Amino acid sequence: MGEKHKGLALKDKVTIVTGASSGIGREIALTFAQEGAKVVLSARREAKLQEVAREVLGRGGESLVVPIDVSQETQVRAMVGEALREFGRVDILVNDAGMGHWGPVVDFKTEDWDEVFDVNVKGTFLCCREVLPAMIEQKRGRIINISSDAGKIPFIECSAYCAAKAAVIAFSRCLALEMLPHNIGVHVICPGYVDTPWYDNDPTAPDRSRMLKAEDIAQLALYLASLPSRVLIDEIVIQPRGMAMG
Ligand SMILES: NC(=O)c1ccc[n+]([C@@H]2O[C@H](COP(=O)([O-])OP(=O)(O)OC[C@H]3O[C@@H](n4cnc5c(N)ncnc54)[C@H](OP(=O)(O)O)[C@@H]3O)[C@@H](O)[C@H]2O)c1
Repeated sequence: MGEKHKGLALKDKVTIVTGASSGIGREIALTFAQEGAKVVLSARREAKLQEVAREVLGRGGESLVVPIDVSQETQVRAMVGEALREFGRVDILVNDAGMGHWGPVVDFKTEDWDEVFDVNVKGTFLCCREVLPAMIEQKRGRIINISSDAGKIPFIECSAYCAAKAAVIAFSRCLALEMLPHNIGVHVICPGYVDTPWYDNDPTAPDRSRMLKAEDIAQLALYLASLPSRVLIDEIVIQPRGMAMG
């Protein structure tokens, strides 16, 4: 990387991105790599991650593919260990991996509820917990958690997802307080509709041409990741003009 990455916003910053195989996470990984970050690409689908890795390489960047399920403690621990072995440090963590199940509470399945919480909430917690010792030791770090506007406002037949994303917001704000003395910034982004593969098999999806683009979230994440450590921003809601939900 060396000379050619001089002047880039995230030059040599080691960044773990979960959910990097698709949509917002993929775009964040590519944007960060373009800005000089060494990106650890994580999600379950290895073939998709390898595609992103090739794209990173094509743009002159460096990456490490680590396929894991974020809800599995041992896999998360192994991923952080691999990142530290390869790059020696972790400067930024982006918790993007997420999923949902939808339906009325009256017949919502317990296993669906558990999966929504395991991926969105427990996955975020595990990834944060596992990178914290290295960040605390380094006396600096940046964590960006992707929640949703659904964590702030109700959507019908969306109870598990809304509750999980609200939990991500509450968790992030508590962690931000705990990390103040360690010079580690914790931000949470709450997007409204973003046009990603999330909606590929959803016939009820609203007009995708009116949604935000993944690059809108990636630019916001880049802004947060590049802030000087004196700046404290906890939560940002970003919605498409014309589809804002209040
Ligand atoms: N699109 C929207 O309108 C919108 C709005 C607000 C918030 N969000 C949030 O933004 C994030 C990204 O969503 P997206 O729109 O980019 O959707 P997407 O294209 O479906 O991407 C979801 C990502 O999460 C990963 N993932 C899911 N379950 C996982 C697991 N158990 N372990 C590891 N990775 C897992 C997927 O990778 P694998 O399948 O390869 O594991 C994929 O990379 C999610 O947290 C979502 O809740 C999206």
